[in-house]
Amino acid sequence: MKHGIFLIVLISMICRADMNMSLGEQDSRMWETQALRLPWFTRWSCILDMQEPYAHWFVGGHINASYACLDIHIKNGKKNKTAIYWTNEQGGSGTVTYQELYQDVNSFAKYMRSCGVGFGDKVVIYMPMIPEAVVAMLACARLGAIHVVVFSGFSSQAIKDRIVDTQAKCIITCDVSYYRGKILNLKSIVDQALVDSDLERKVILIKRTQEPVGLVPERDLIYAKPEVKNLSLDPVPVESNHPLFILYTSGTTGKPKGIVHSTGGYLTYVFSTIEWVFGITPESIYWCTADFGWITGHSYGVYGPLMHGATIVLREGAPDWPDEKSWWKVIDQYKVSIFYTSPTALRMFMRLGPDLLQGADLSSLRVLGSVGEPINPEVWRWYHEQIGRKACPIIDTWWQTETGGFMIAPTAGSTMVPLKPGSATFAMPGIEASVVDSYGNPVPADTKGFLVIKKPWPGMAIGIYNNPALFKDIYWTRFSGMYYAGDYAVRDTDGYFWLLGRADEVIKVAGHRIGTAEVESIVLEHQSVAENAAIGISDPIKGEVIVIFIVLKHGYQVNQELHDQIINLVRTKIGSFATPKEIYCVEKLPKTRSGKIMRRLLKTLIEGCLIGDISTLEDDASVEEIQQVLQSADLYIKRVRI
Ligand code: PRX
Repeated sequence: MKHGIFLIVLISMICRADMNMSLGEQDSRMWETQALRLPWFTRWSCILDMQEPYAHWFVGGHINASYACLDIHIKNGKKNKTAIYWTNEQGGSGTVTYQELYQDVNSFAKYMRSCGVGFGDKVVIYMPMIPEAVVAMLACARLGAIHVVVFSGFSSQAIKDRIVDTQAKCIITCDVSYYRGKILNLKSIVDQALVDSDLERKVILIKRTQEPVGLVPERDLIYAKPEVKNLSLDPVPVESNHPLFILYTSGTTGKPKGIVHSTGGYLTYVFSTIEWVFGITPESIYWCTADFGWITGHSYGVYGPLMHGATIVLREGAPDWPDEKSWWKVIDQYKVSIFYTSPTALRMFMRLGPDLLQGADLSSLRVLGSVGEPINPEVWRWYHEQIGRKACPIIDTWWQTETGGFMIAPTAGSTMVPLKPGSATFAMPGIEASVVDSYGNPVPADTKGFLVIKKPWPGMAIGIYNNPALFKDIYWTRFSGMYYAGDYAVRDTDGYFWLLGRADEVIKVAGHRIGTAEVESIVLEHQSVAENAAIGISDPIKGEVIVIFIVLKHGYQVNQELHDQIINLVRTKIGSFATPKEIYCVEKLPKTRSGKIMRRLLKTLIEGCLIGDISTLEDDASVEEIQQVLQSADLYIKRVRI
């Protein structure tokens, strides 16, 4: 196959924009210019085909993500450049050049093909933060297969749910991972998922240790890295709107939803935004601490930096293991220039005091990013002063799994606005963000409202897997012609955006997104529970933690055993990161007249906040109903904590 980068005459063509959310001439030209910087095999016939709520970008253009991340650099003479520095909490480390990564991806893609994986097949990846996970993702992309990465902190239930929903053809995993001094047996978690679901799926196992692993004949295949170098497999050119991946994320429904991202639009958006926001270059040594199982790990852990030919740093293990200085030593050792992490991690380090950074030279740092949850101004300042030596801009990036890439963030790669601690500043070029009231009208400055996006952008999700109706309902129905993000925000008088947390029933625990309905449906599985409500309350380190209110069925008693069983249920069904902090047993749950649980009121009661305008607490609760709950507050809290 002959691969050529097509020289395309800049002609803006917008095929169809039949919704309020339309794209102007200037934006379409800008996105086309950006897309042209990627290596396409064939050019598109139109820039945007918008059929509300679906946006098809660069229709008819063909591209391949692994080609854009690897082959292009080899062709440009960068084969000996380091693609990955990896290290782990056990002291292991190594480097992988672009040529080596290219070879590994080609070999693995060949192997996957020999196992029957091909174009359009879904492949679940359950792996820790190691180079092999990058290889697995890029090998899927090379074949036109669609990866479904599962966070390695999730339990077998999450793997099972994703296999069932996507009908994945195979699962790629490894025998073990290392976390906080423990060895986690990933393969056995995959085994459990397959036993539970009674599904016959191939398991491709990448062995990291010499330890024997139980294998299921015919089902489990051990991948042996071939001795032969120079194995190559032509990348499969996929149409721009072919899904690159499906990534599950929690929402307001009981089960996480599979967010589908395109290839061409997504890559264009990620390529552009990582440059605008972080100023990434091929010389950057770039460390994004997010797990590959989250969107940050996809967009700005793998695809964004590799498309730019930068060097990424991977570290497997807990941030403070084997000691509190581990992360800072990594920055020093690899001379990291761009560092991207979460406020939860920063808060954890911040409380450790001034000795934390002694002995680590952080002078290589140029840009510091933050993501996943609001960053408190005091944490922002600590990050700026202690980690960044007041010499690095703090780049607070607001975005979501659904948006594919940064939406609101300072742009260290172009003109920088003056920063304000705690504000994500302004929307990206081409993004029109606004804060509106419940009727969709823009609110005045300094007024809290709902964050919406008013114009399509190339990184936007192309759907929810298996559920087109839900895609429309969740994001596009609340405000006509606008994308509803589900977040509260405020714009100050200078126009800066301040993100204030979720406006819906989604909890952010240490930046991980968990739906209240998801937790509640799990707790309900306990035989003693008649009803329950999950809420998120503020936590000084994790941002939010989960608190559960349960109503017991007749004849059941409150005791420690019950408490432990419920905690374990959530841990085993979701993962230990979702462990509830407290459980309260109550006689009844506060509800509105229409039967909706008043979660925000429960939150207010637990946090002991003074309630100002109570009528805004619950959308459809009357003031009288709220007052009734407040009067019987001890019924909901004081006497019943277990
Ligand atoms: O509530 C916002 C919060 O994280 C949500 C998206 O979560 P997820 O899809 O898991 O993606 C996280 C990584 C992009 C948003 O709706 N969020 C994300 N970034 C920020 C944030 N909240 C405040 N400030 C941020 N910088």
